[in-house]
Amino acid sequence: MSTLKTLTPLFNLDDVPAPRHTGNGFTGQDVISVSQFDRPRLDYIFTRAREMRAMVKRVGASDLLKGFVLACLFYEPSTRTSASFIAAMERLGGSVIPITQGVQFSSVSKGETLADTVRTLEQYADVIVLRHPEIGSAQLAADYASVPVINAGDGAGEHPTQALLDLFTIQDELGTIDGLKIAMVGDLRYGRTVHSLTKLLLQYKVSLRFVSPEILRLPLTIMNEVIDAGLDVRETHDVADVIENADVLYVTRVQKERFSDLAQYEEVKDHYEITPELMARAKQKMIVMHPLPRVGEIHYAVDADPRAAYFRQVQNGMYIRMALLAAVLGRA
Ligand code: CP
Repeated sequence: MSTLKTLTPLFNLDDVPAPRHTGNGFTGQDVISVSQFDRPRLDYIFTRAREMRAMVKRVGASDLLKGFVLACLFYEPSTRTSASFIAAMERLGGSVIPITQGVQFSSVSKGETLADTVRTLEQYADVIVLRHPEIGSAQLAADYASVPVINAGDGAGEHPTQALLDLFTIQDELGTIDGLKIAMVGDLRYGRTVHSLTKLLLQYKVSLRFVSPEILRLPLTIMNEVIDAGLDVRETHDVADVIENADVLYVTRVQKERFSDLAQYEEVKDHYEITPELMARAKQKMIVMHPLPRVGEIHYAVDADPRAAYFRQVQNGMYIRMALLAAVLGRA
């Protein structure tokens, strides 16, 4: 996190103290990539997320971010990321400008650039959450914006807040991250959640297994980072090769929207399905995760298995985003 930005609440309420620097290192900063998170920073966000969870379960909401406004700007569809950022802001007493129902209803449809759109939204909001189909778009927005920009997914690039909630879920469910065998299954080429989570896991002593069809293998640049980090790593095409030893099975959807040749998508779209029969071969203490949405990769019958963690993972997304918003807005 290199750029420090000045924060100004939209509403200058007397009972809202001015934003303050807390020493946590997040205040006024953009969140663009997982490379910004070392282990102390991860521990900090996870501790705050647990506090947020305890607060929500105890009283539902607080006014920690009263007087602050979030602009939620989504150029791609979303259910979880947009809804959890909105819920996070509202549970902390803040307000939201939701441009999440399709930018076709905004001036983007008239040809407005991303730069002008963020320079407009910063006139109203104290933080901008952006999802965009192009790699590098979040950094570009951050270069123009004077308020913090949080990357909610930039094409096939990164999805850092998803990776934070994924890592938090692993620690929360299994009590540790070091020492685990983590298998990632599905679209490892275009799946930005896989890219971000893999990069975060380089900071831990884990074994990684990558399971995909040949054309959806993990990009070489990321695989080289894994190898350089000295982790135990293997690739395979078959889930059966990893199911018995995995502590975490991280399943992903084949990203139809990233294929230029739909015939190729048809070839690979039904390559994997996690079924109760497959789960019967897995460890008793393991978890199945998925960033969702799923389109056939996990059979609905698996949902009743206590090892199916994907909806608990969804809930964790709100706590992580509450912690992040409070941190970048200086309300830690
Ligand atoms: N996991 C995730 O990014 O889901 P959405 O696309 O629904 O936001």
